[in-house]
Amino acid sequence: MNIPFLDLNRTHRPLREALLKQFAEHFDKNDFILGKAVEEFEKEFATYCGTAYGIGVANGLQALELILKAMNIGPQDEVITVANTFHATPAAIYAVGARPILVDTKEDFTIDTSLIESVITPKTKAIMPVHLYGQVCDMDEIMNIAKRHNLYVIEDACQSHGSMYKNKRAGNLGHAAAFSFYPGKNLGAFGDGGFITTNDANLMNKIKMIRNYGQSKKYCHDILGVNSRLDTLQATVLRLKLPHLDYWNSQRKNIAERYCAALKDVVQVPMISKDRDHIYHLFVIRTDKREELMHYLKEKGIDSGLHYPVPIHLQKAFEYLGYSKGAFPKSELYADTILSIPIFPGMTDAEADYVINHIKSFFAGSSI
Ligand SMILES: Cc1ncc(COP(=O)(O)O)c(C=O)c1O
Repeated sequence: MNIPFLDLNRTHRPLREALLKQFAEHFDKNDFILGKAVEEFEKEFATYCGTAYGIGVANGLQALELILKAMNIGPQDEVITVANTFHATPAAIYAVGARPILVDTKEDFTIDTSLIESVITPKTKAIMPVHLYGQVCDMDEIMNIAKRHNLYVIEDACQSHGSMYKNKRAGNLGHAAAFSFYPGKNLGAFGDGGFITTNDANLMNKIKMIRNYGQSKKYCHDILGVNSRLDTLQATVLRLKLPHLDYWNSQRKNIAERYCAALKDVVQVPMISKDRDHIYHLFVIRTDKREELMHYLKEKGIDSGLHYPVPIHLQKAFEYLGYSKGAFPKSELYADTILSIPIFPGMTDAEADYVINHIKSFFAGSSI
């Protein structure tokens, strides 16, 4: 058997006819950017997340950047985030001229909220928690800290489409949130795409202007903006896929439960914190034998991945922040011991069992 890390054909093939019909209808419309489908999708995805407003943008990185810009966060300001995330999180903070301030993670791979207050300074303007791998951070604690210190909270929800905390979805837990529709995400476009959710009307209006060259109406540039718009065609794809998101997430959860039940005594399986509904964008195990296991699985036809092998503070690009090795011990330990194993909608139980059996045989020292 060959088990890919992710097989998007399994979600796209059943939608092929519907997608092609939409593309054909689209062909004659000359509706390319920020069109009707974008407006419709903005309403639909905001409603799905439970927020009053939604704004389609070009990608997840720029979703984060536009939120920061709309909050007037820039040079001289500091934004607190976590050391174990994808490059885009601190890159967005850097892009607006602010300084990323890092803190360590904890066993469930989300930001350790007990460390946040010790790095707050008069320059701190926001906290940017990352709902990594599809599990929401400790948002009550984060919102309480933010309230005490008068800070914004910007959710990096780029890996958590549909994930829940208590009775609310990711995207509806801070002052604004950023999503990515990179094709491999739980909700992905046929190219790049991004989204911002918020309940703040002023923020929404400002972000809508910034994403389109700062225009309040055509050729009236009230503020300096950028070009970060969602294509109509991408919105068409996303509108068609959104009604399937919960089902796809439930399929991921079924595979995750199967993995957890079978592997919990063999490796460290993901920890689910209280009041969370994890949507398993990634299923990340931990083992000291990560490199050997990865190699062994490859030989058996099973793809795996590393998310992420080098924490932010040890990346060359962020050397200028001045952190040294040892600064964030958990992030460093996890970077050396994590392994993401295949999980995707349409993955069969037999495929999951194949992965399980080979992981077990690796640790039993008995190749099958
Ligand atoms: C946690 C996180 N933040 C931000 C991004 C950026 O999204 P995009 O690739 O759409 O710019 C990603 C994308 O992988 C991500 O995983």
